[in-house]
Amino acid sequence: MTVALSHWPTPLDAAPRLAVAVGLRPGDLWVKRDDLTDLGGGNKIRKLEHLVAEAEQAGATVLVTSGGVQSNHARMTAAAAARRGLGCVLVLSGDADPRHPGNLALEGLFGARVVAGGDPAAVSDELRAAGETPFLIPLGGSSPTGARGYLTCAAELTDQAPDARHVVTAVGSGGTMAGLVAGLGADRVLGVDTGAVPDPAEWVTALVEALGASAAGLRLRTDQVGAGYGALTDAGEHALRTAARTEGLVLEPTYTAKALAGLVAAVADGSIRPGERTVWLHTGGLPGLFGHPFAEAAARAVLDGV
Ligand SMILES: Cc1ncc(COP(=O)(O)O)c(C=O)c1O
Repeated sequence: MTVALSHWPTPLDAAPRLAVAVGLRPGDLWVKRDDLTDLGGGNKIRKLEHLVAEAEQAGATVLVTSGGVQSNHARMTAAAAARRGLGCVLVLSGDADPRHPGNLALEGLFGARVVAGGDPAAVSDELRAAGETPFLIPLGGSSPTGARGYLTCAAELTDQAPDARHVVTAVGSGGTMAGLVAGLGADRVLGVDTGAVPDPAEWVTALVEALGASAAGLRLRTDQVGAGYGALTDAGEHALRTAARTEGLVLEPTYTAKALAGLVAAVADGSIRPGERTVWLHTGGLPGLFGHPFAEAAARAVLDGV
């Protein structure tokens, strides 16, 4: 049971110049464009198609969810709520900086109410006491229901790239990787942790098992987190600049830059080899670029002629 929030399937694009730049052959690397979805672009919309259906079936009047101050998931939940005529309350942690508006600006436009920090369950209780019927969506939309959205992506990839040896994705709350693993098998999916949760392998494993599949042999790199969630690493910045220069693809520091840096590291250490067809999942999050200090620094560098 789903509600339609975008157009499917997302494209699978060849990336021959990026392939060569990361040490693969020109025909090896393909980009699954989950950045090209509705609601501002990104992976969370696949989860929300399932989660909003569940909420509506439960008679919800308001969606409640949580995340960091620049959460793409929060922005897409706000947009989905607007699309379906529901209210939305976002419980966001971390310091907001209006110089880096990103997702926050969009959440305002979509009509969501933002609560700074706190317990989303307590916010739901307050809403219920005020006569609303809240539906609580977990961090990142990564419940078994949400992760089902990536079973659908796995099915699209089975049609679009049946011979793909590796599918590489960022890992935050784990639902994206879990759905791919459940649909494609643990051996074909490489996750790159971004530092969003302290124990990503446990999160992914629990979700894979909840989808009735095995997580044995899970491939999860934890070497790209750097100074922590949201902190741009040197390898991430290099990956972000390389994708932009070689293919005109826009990444952001928190998830996709690290996911591509993980692919680069996997080629460097031989876990992905030239000649093996590889799909890199672009999980979107473009507004997050403009919510990060890196965008301001990049603009200043252009203005300074650096
Ligand atoms: C752009 C982007 N990529 C990847 C992820 C990670 O997805 P998941 O939480 O399913 O691991 C997120 C999650 O917030 C995201 O916003």
